[in-house]
Amino acid sequence: MTLRLFDHALLDRSLYPRLARGLPIGVMGRAFYPFCSVDSTQNIARELASAGAPEGTVVVADHQTLGRGRAGRSWLAEPGANLLVSVLLRPRIPVARVPQLSLLLAVASREAIEGQTGLPVRVRWPNDLLLAGRKVAGILTEAASGAQGILHVVAGIGINVNQTEFHEEIRERATSLALATGSPREREPLLEALLARLNHWYAVYREVGFGPARSAWCRNSATLGEWVASGREIAGTAVDLDEDGALVVRTASGVLKRVVAGEIL
Ligand code: BTN
Repeated sequence: MTLRLFDHALLDRSLYPRLARGLPIGVMGRAFYPFCSVDSTQNIARELASAGAPEGTVVVADHQTLGRGRAGRSWLAEPGANLLVSVLLRPRIPVARVPQLSLLLAVASREAIEGQTGLPVRVRWPNDLLLAGRKVAGILTEAASGAQGILHVVAGIGINVNQTEFHEEIRERATSLALATGSPREREPLLEALLARLNHWYAVYREVGFGPARSAWCRNSATLGEWVASGREIAGTAVDLDEDGALVVRTASGVLKRVVAGEIL
């Protein structure tokens, strides 16, 4: 496939040399696009998806000029410090099941970070990763659907690897692997580990469904057992994650309510 979506001179294969040569990771990373700078890896991956790129296509950038997070927020990262990755998936699932993929990504990312650092990483619903209570990574899934259902999902993962200074708004709540371990970390082994864990969990998902990832998420959750609030309607203790990836909350009056998407406090 010849893609003319962007200037190929902007690709920098020296950024992740082993991955650029092609590793036997499986589906994830079989097409690999490392960039110095893009607006958002999500945008590049989405364009590649529309041009017919295969499932498992990975876009990674050293710098994003318009990196985005959930709920319309910006995702700011110091150039060259962190992992900014988007992965193209083509799951055959109904739109309502897309939140499962965010949680699956969180499980895979958690295992990759824990495997690389030895530090315990917890998942916070819907899809933040925490180190000692501070956010070290976030996940953003964006789906395109048509009459036949899901066309593709672009799953974006931002991991704070070597950034040590954060914007004042998030300074008290954010951390990085370098801050948590006391030394800078190489990004390529972490990206390899991330793609390997994602490969594993996506294969499990396709074979037997969401159950195993759901159990792994629940075992490592920072949310279950906590008091949470969502909007004005729902407040209570988070007691479970359901089959669709919704958070189940028991209100003070004992009623169980589902939080399907969005933020909790
Ligand atoms: C969040 O916690 O709000 C989600 C953050 C997702 C950030 C990643 S970085 C790579 C990809 N490209 C983007 O523009 N966003 C995602």
